Amino acid sequence: MSPQQRRLRELTECMRRAPSEAAQREDIFALLTFEHMLQERLCDLLEAIADALPGAVDLATAEAAAFFLRTHYPAHFAAEDAVLFPALLGGLGRGSALASAVEQARAEHEVDLEAAREIADCLDDLARGERISPDAVGYMLRGFFEAQRRHISWEERVLFPLARERLDAAAGSRIAAAILAQRRPAAVIALRKDAG
Ligand SMILES: [Fe+2]
Repeated sequence: MSPQQRRLRELTECMRRAPSEAAQREDIFALLTFEHMLQERLCDLLEAIADALPGAVDLATAEAAAFFLRTHYPAHFAAEDAVLFPALLGGLGRGSALASAVEQARAEHEVDLEAAREIADCLDDLARGERISPDAVGYMLRGFFEAQRRHISWEERVLFPLARERLDAAAGSRIAAAILAQRRPAAVIALRKDAG
């Protein structure tokens, strides 16, 4: 098994350890820190892919990494940007440590999402056998996973402790419920046969 395949297996094994819905409702940060763990496994996978450039990239692994970047990544950022942060900022004065941390997180998310999309495109090109510049892709991958590791560590050391101080149990479970609702697949609307 190649280092890339081993890293992909670690990522998929990590996915099976998702907290239960009850644990997520009890502690909003249970889900977000679990997803950070997944993102750290993704960073390890991207590093293994970068190490395998130019000629030894496992194509199925590259495709799996691209899929993760297009799905789990935006979902995690959406939970933070669209649900957690507005709840934290309600009634909070500008310039507080928490407001500044949220502003920084949002700015970093914007850059990271754009980078994640570009990398997913490159990995898909690679998986389809298209010509890519190994140096450019290697540079992009390394910049991305290094920035991600720093971002995750900063959120957990700085942002989450400030956020915990701000949220009581009731606010936490409202946020958890909103994130869970956001994650549910779109409802299927039954077709109704018109009478007559
Ligand atoms: Fe995060």
